[in-house]
Formats: sequence, C-alpha cells, structure tokens
Amino acid sequence: MSLPATMRYVAIREPGPPDVLGIAEGPLPATKAGEVLIEVAYAGVNRPDCLQRSGAYPPPPDASPIVGLEVAGRIAALGEGVVGWQVGDEVCALTPGGGYAGYCATPAGFCLPLPPGLSLREAAGVPENYFTVWYNLFDRLHFAAGESVLIHGGTSGIGLTAIQLAHAHGAVVYTTAGSDEKVAFCRTMGADHAINYRTQDFSTEVWRLTGKRGVDVVLDMVGGDYVDRNLRAMAPEGRLAQIAFLQGSRVEIEMRHVMMKRLTVTGSTLRASPTARKVALANALRERVWPLFAQGKLKIVVAQTFPLAEAAAAHTLMESGRLIGKIILAVR
Ligand SMILES: NC(=O)c1ccc[n+]([C@@H]2O[C@H](COP(=O)([O-])OP(=O)(O)OC[C@H]3O[C@@H](n4cnc5c(N)ncnc54)[C@H](OP(=O)(O)O)[C@@H]3O)[C@@H](O)[C@H]2O)c1
Repeated sequence: MSLPATMRYVAIREPGPPDVLGIAEGPLPATKAGEVLIEVAYAGVNRPDCLQRSGAYPPPPDASPIVGLEVAGRIAALGEGVVGWQVGDEVCALTPGGGYAGYCATPAGFCLPLPPGLSLREAAGVPENYFTVWYNLFDRLHFAAGESVLIHGGTSGIGLTAIQLAHAHGAVVYTTAGSDEKVAFCRTMGADHAINYRTQDFSTEVWRLTGKRGVDVVLDMVGGDYVDRNLRAMAPEGRLAQIAFLQGSRVEIEMRHVMMKRLTVTGSTLRASPTARKVALANALRERVWPLFAQGKLKIVVAQTFPLAEAAAAHTLMESGRLIGKIILAVR
C-alpha cells in the first residue's frame, strides 16, 4: 500500500468551544516499533474528546495532540516487530489519540478484528466504550452473573454498552436517563428498570424497586450529589466505580454508608491506564465479548454520522445531550 505524503486531520485552533475545530493538512504520524498505521475510515466521538478540545483534558505527553480515541479502518503499515496483523487487514482500535485524521498510529495490541456482524462505521464506535466498561464492570467491580447493577447516563455510548453487557451476563439492570424517550429506549436495550432522573429521585426509586436491599454494583459518570445518593442505593458489600464527574468531583458524602454496608468505592480513567492493561483488555474483549456480537446480543447505536470536516457540529451535538448513542466521523 503506497502512503501519501500528507493527510487531513482535525486541528484545535485554541482551547475553546466546538468551533475551534477545523480541518488541517499535515504529515502522517510516525509508526513506532510495535505500532500499526491505520488508514482511518471512521472515527468514534467520545465525551473526553470534548474535554480535550476545551483544554480540560490535555493529552498525555507522549500522545498525538490530535483528538480521537478510537477508529476503524485498514492497516496501512506495520511498525518493527509487529506480528499477527497484515497490511490491508480491517480493524477497529483504541488509540492513544490522533483518531480524527486520515491516518492514525496505535500499538498493535490495541487493535481488534471488526466485531462479527458490524460494519466499519459501527465498529469505530466500539473500542473506547467497550474497553472502559469491561475494565470497570468486570476487572474493577468483579461484577458476577445475576447481580444487580445501576448504570447512569443510560443512553450515552458508555451507558448503552454497560446496559447490554450487563444484560447479556444475566444482570438485573437499573439505569437513569434525562427524558421519557431516553428511558423508553434504555428498556429496549435490556434495562429492566429505567428511571427519568429529572422527574424521580433515582436513589429512592432504586431502594423501592429493590425492596430496600439496594444494588450490588454502580457505574457512575455523573458524580456531584449522585455520589451520596449512589451510596444510599447500594446493597451490603456493594461496589461503585466512578468514571467521570459531569456534575463535579468535590462532593459531600455520608461515609457511614461505606462502613455500615461494607461498600467499595473505586474508579479509573482508560487513557491514563498502562499500555499492558489496554492490551490485556483487547484480549479479554476478543475472547469474551466478540462472541456476544456474533450471537447478536450486542449492537452499536449510531446517533449520527458527520463528515470529518464537520467535527465541530459533532461536538456541538454531543454537548447538547440531544442524542441517543454514538456519534461517528466519516473520514474518507
Ligand atoms: N473513565 C474513563 O475511562 C472514561 C472513558 C470514556 C468515557 N468516560 C466518561 O463517560 C461519560 C460518558 O461518555 P460518552 O462518550 O458515552 O458521553 P455522552 O454520550 O456525551 O454521554 C453523557 C451522558 O451523561 C448524561 N448526563 C449529562 N449530564 C448529566 C447530568 N448533569 N446528570 C445526569 N446525567 C447527565 C447524558 O444524558 P441525559 O440526557 O440522560 O442527561 C448522557 O447520557 C463521560 O462523562 C465521559 O467523560 C470515562
């Protein structure tokens, strides 16, 4: 495969609102030892991309300054020492950054074959959500089949992934969302109980629905006053993973719940996790989750696809909250 001298990518003019994003032309990224170069067909859009654009989430020092944490496309070149992949293979991949571009370099171990039954476009929306949810639900919270789980932000990319994965593992799934339409959609995706947090207090409702027992596991991206309400809604030996703070991270909580119910509070951020952990997650997904795609138990909900040049409109839609599922950028 012959490579062009330059590529199109989305540049951040300066930290700020979506319209600081614009198309630029520049050199292809270098492909280091152990990496592959992917000719990007589609890039997934994630909330952390909006944070990076606004200056609140700078990329790690060794990562591409270009936004974009996941892609799908064809392998265009192999770095030194890469085995198991060939030029021309179709893959989806987690990236250290650099996804909103014609070409993206990423460790070979972050690549996966397309999930069975998914198009390239749908596959671009898989890695960031599935790596994150699998790591938190299964590795950190030790979620076990048949347990109950409360998932906030039910119609987000993360939320829909967690609902489907938990449902496929026999969980009783509780979720929250901000409108009746979103709540109804969550039910169609496997949620047993979906709560409109704007009209009902989710904590009281979960307590009532569980017969005053609470849930075993909580996956939360909201923070703020949700943290204390999560602790109240948890069962003895319950476990909480915090993966973001849409309502702020400085919170007041009643620690007595942690002591009296022997709760565990943890959390993580995928981007800062070591490379070896992400490779292990890719292997776990291939082994444990790709078969669920093959069985038709998991699907990707694409809210809207934008051309790469309209990345600003994609970020505006994400920040409006008026969407269900993933936003995808078409790069070619
Ligand atoms: N730690 C990690 O490794 C990691 C990795 C990826 C993503 N994340 C985080 O996970 C979250 C979801 O990511 P995404 O890309 O799937 O984003 P997204 O699609 O933009 O989802 C955000 C969700 O949060 C809900 N929400 C927003 N503000 C809220 C509020 N004040 N109270 C309650 N719910 C609120 C929104 O729906 P409603 O209409 O229902 O409010 C929406 O479902 C983001 O916060 C992101 O930063 C963390």
